[in-house]
Amino acid sequence: MSARGEELTTQVETIRAVRGTRDLLPPETARWNFVESATREVFRNYNFHEIRTPIFEKTELFARGVGEETDIVSKEMYTWEDQSGKSDGAAGAGQSLTLRPENTAGVVRAYIEHKLWERGLNKLYYIGPQFRRERPQKGRYRQFYQIGAEVIGPPSSGTESPARDAELLELLATLLDRLRIQDWRLELNSIGCEEDRARYNQALRQALGPVVRKLCDDCQRRAATNPLRVFDCKVPADQPIIDTLPRISQFLDEPCRQHFDEVQRILNSVRVPYTLNDRLVRGLDYYTRTAFEFTHGALGAQNAILGGGRYDGLSESLGGPQAPGIGFAIGEDRLVMSLGDSAEAAVRKPDVYLAPLGPGMNQEAARLARELRRQNLIVELGEESFRLKKSLELASKMGAKYALIAGENELSTGVFALKNLATGEQRAVARDRLVPEIQR
Ligand code: HAM
Repeated sequence: MSARGEELTTQVETIRAVRGTRDLLPPETARWNFVESATREVFRNYNFHEIRTPIFEKTELFARGVGEETDIVSKEMYTWEDQSGKSDGAAGAGQSLTLRPENTAGVVRAYIEHKLWERGLNKLYYIGPQFRRERPQKGRYRQFYQIGAEVIGPPSSGTESPARDAELLELLATLLDRLRIQDWRLELNSIGCEEDRARYNQALRQALGPVVRKLCDDCQRRAATNPLRVFDCKVPADQPIIDTLPRISQFLDEPCRQHFDEVQRILNSVRVPYTLNDRLVRGLDYYTRTAFEFTHGALGAQNAILGGGRYDGLSESLGGPQAPGIGFAIGEDRLVMSLGDSAEAAVRKPDVYLAPLGPGMNQEAARLARELRRQNLIVELGEESFRLKKSLELASKMGAKYALIAGENELSTGVFALKNLATGEQRAVARDRLVPEIQR
């Protein structure tokens, strides 16, 4: 670039990524791919199939699905009024659309829209970005990624069975073990059915009555509209009061209690450890019965790697048929953060840096690179005008295992100089021995 050009770029203000969003760069992206391919393999073992739903949906889907009173819907959604209604010639103002803050509502919408039960498709998984306007901090972003799964189907398909809950939890334990994530902790609760929660809400309201004034503004609002949401409160001063409130576990009816007991019996039988936590109510309104979170100590304040639970009435509340379901979503950003060294092998460096030396060598080197790449080697191809010293420097910088020098002499004799960049050792290798030599 000319001196004038450089001057200009320094004067123009640069544009940075929006707060709460981030660029995932190599080699970090290799760790993400490692997680995603291990997860896809596990999903295949359990006969899950991938679904991809749109990144934005009608706002009403989340209002009805996730719940108006939840933090997600009341404070955190990216919502706008779409203009397309007007330009399409449709009457009236544009409709309200929202970037998806989670994917369960979208999956259930798609399940209903495409009558997936008719095709026997009831185990679905997804991987993709979600959006919430939360205060960014370590492990909490405004665009974050989830890997999630949903088991949903008509009662006749057995989706209501506690066996499905236990199977999903066992799948998650298997996945975390396969990723060699240690020190995870499964926290488990049952939040009962609608009738249980109606009785519980009444008791909560009563218990909140004398203390509600001492709680934060959000809790005062929640106490009036949806008292269960008081348990979502993060304000430290409120916690001692919230700790004194009655728990949902005391309000489960017999079928819900039995369902929950059976989930635990199966978990015991497959030896998946868990801790009961009757304060765990999850921050979304669609849950019924089993609710769970996996936490990881190394994550700090945002220590939930994943969360999920059963949502037996969600389909009906979105206008669909009766279709009990259960699912989870892993926060992929947090999962990658808790990986430790187990993904290091996924970060692949070039096997060989091919350095053409001298005029006219780009063409020959391109042919040689093509041959080597067809043998599945990772080849970085240099440029004929580079001096050997520069090529070797570039090769080392990108972490290549070997540098392969291709000058006129090498191409005419068919014997190449192959330099091991870690040891500095250089050997003469015949063209047909290059691949085994590099793979060694
Ligand atoms: P959730 O608990 O809201 O559940 O989110 C699941 C996971 O997504 C959290 O445990 C966390 O790891 C990650 N997560 C949430 N918000 C953020 C954020 N701002 N930044 C980074 N990671 C975040 C759901 O979304 C439900 N749809 C899960 C589900 C599926 N339930 C049934 N099926």
